[in-house]
Amino acid sequence: MRTPIVAGNWKMNLGRREALELGRAIAEGAPTQGVTAIVAPVALHLAALGEALASAPVLLASQNAHWAESGAYTGELAGPMLREVGVRYVILGHSERRQYFGESDEGVNRKTRAMLAQGLRPIVCFGESLEEREAGQTQAKVEFQVRAALAGVGAEDAKDVVLAYEPIWAIGTGKTASPEQAQEVHGFLRGVLEDLYDRATAQAMPILYGGSVKPSNFAELIGQPDIDGGLVGGASLKAESFLELCRIAV
Ligand code: G3H
Repeated sequence: MRTPIVAGNWKMNLGRREALELGRAIAEGAPTQGVTAIVAPVALHLAALGEALASAPVLLASQNAHWAESGAYTGELAGPMLREVGVRYVILGHSERRQYFGESDEGVNRKTRAMLAQGLRPIVCFGESLEEREAGQTQAKVEFQVRAALAGVGAEDAKDVVLAYEPIWAIGTGKTASPEQAQEVHGFLRGVLEDLYDRATAQAMPILYGGSVKPSNFAELIGQPDIDGGLVGGASLKAESFLELCRIAV
């Protein structure tokens, strides 16, 4: 039904040579079916990776994009330019962008709608802080963020959206949400999507988990009924562990 997704977010890591080496190693080893493998290098290397991965079973994502198709937005990247070099997905609303670069729910929504209109698939990130989890606000927070990101997105377009639940307290900390904790949120969100759209649309939309995913914990996570893959930081920087995650997902 939903093809599993393993998406590697390289964040602000790897120089050109390392990025190309990693991209090529992943291209050689990635399963040719049963999983959608995605890598998101820094913007600077997207064009080179686009060429290196052109005929590989690995798709390319950008870590961000602007909503406008072009214009006076110094330092930004436009969807059509990303498409031109082979980008298919765009990560939006990552907690690091929300925390350090003022990415707002309104901005994520604007970008989500723009990417869909421009033929790119958004990977929309959201998740609660430790404080919010401890205050019992996890469901309210993720529901708010998901509804805000999808405002004005119709059911047909929604099927092209990938959601990524990333509890902030689990990102880069080595503390993974337990499979039960993650499934509780994913199952809850599936219900929110059904309420927002309909059952078929909710069932079609992939919901990834992110936060200290590694080969040793991934099988259990992806074994949960509503966890459709991983958005992976640290463990995506080594070909061996990223490919192992892809094999686990198949
Ligand atoms: O986008 C990826 C997430 O922020 C997870 O990062 O796997 O290093 O915890 P991590």
